[in-house]
Amino acid sequence: MKILITGSDGQLGTDLCIALKKHELVPLTIGDGDIADLAFIKARALKHRPDVIINTASFLRVDDCEDQRELAFRVNSLGARNAALAAQEIKAKLVHISTDYVFGGEAVPRSTPYLEEDKPSPCNVYGASKQEGDGHVRRVCRNHVIVRSSTLFGTAGAMGKGGNFVETIIKLAKERPELRVVNDQVFSPTYTHDLAAKIAQIIEIEFSGIIHVTNSGACSWYEFTVEILKQAGLKTPVVPITSDQFPQKAKRPRYSVLGHGALQRLGLDDLPPWQEALADYLKLKGPIQ
Ligand SMILES: NC(=O)c1ccc[n+]([C@@H]2O[C@H](COP(=O)([O-])OP(=O)(O)OC[C@H]3O[C@@H](n4cnc5c(N)ncnc54)[C@H](OP(=O)(O)O)[C@@H]3O)[C@@H](O)[C@H]2O)c1
Repeated sequence: MKILITGSDGQLGTDLCIALKKHELVPLTIGDGDIADLAFIKARALKHRPDVIINTASFLRVDDCEDQRELAFRVNSLGARNAALAAQEIKAKLVHISTDYVFGGEAVPRSTPYLEEDKPSPCNVYGASKQEGDGHVRRVCRNHVIVRSSTLFGTAGAMGKGGNFVETIIKLAKERPELRVVNDQVFSPTYTHDLAAKIAQIIEIEFSGIIHVTNSGACSWYEFTVEILKQAGLKTPVVPITSDQFPQKAKRPRYSVLGHGALQRLGLDDLPPWQEALADYLKLKGPIQ
């Protein structure tokens, strides 16, 4: 297959290029053009005529999205629409990457995993812009797959975030006498290597719709931190705190675990537990300075 990948030098994009290397790839970075520019993405689609377009391009600094609402919607909503229009024009399949942050805005926080069929309810601008983008994809491109994932870590580090949580925690643990980390936001950390491998399987099968893909299990930022330090052999004490004790510009979901109903219905294996994924990541990444 010929596969065009936007954001190909990003955290997920980098692992997608590896997982899909048996295919003919057309990698696009922001240096090639802006996903919010319809003429650009349409021209590339018409030039290369890929069988599949994978859109990972996103503005994902969650707090910055609150201040830069227009940019968030331009990249995450208009950009998704443009990718969908380009895919529809050449009758390609569009695989669009979305997020657990389309959930979590209900008055009473959820305590059971969100299913693919559940109604989105974002609690911040990033989530709202991604939700709007997902809506465009569903309306515009007949042959689409929306892959929702959560808290990504990968060897390339999130370009948009200047690294990832694992790297940040290891760095801070080496610099500070103790870490204070939020313990009332629960999610499923996901290794981009595992996510990319599953996307490689999903594009081979007949499936259109929303699919949740995360590593198995769930934890809070505090629990994630304790496991990172344990696996990295660092003894820095970690103190659990509440979201109220760590004010951030954007509100975060208290619970955004994604259920894997679609994966099960398709007979696809679950991804490994997040702890195993973390171990794989740390082994490959080597000591983080
Ligand atoms: N990271 C997470 O925790 C997380 C969690 C759930 C879902 N997701 C979703 O997963 C996808 C990939 O995330 P990631 O962690 O791989 O992020 P990433 O490393 O920041 O990759 C995003 C890529 O998009 C590019 N990009 C940004 N604005 C663009 C634009 N206007 N036009 C074209 N390209 C643009 C970025 O380039 P520059 O960096 O050079 O601007 C980067 O290469 C995103 O759709 C995100 O919403 C991420």
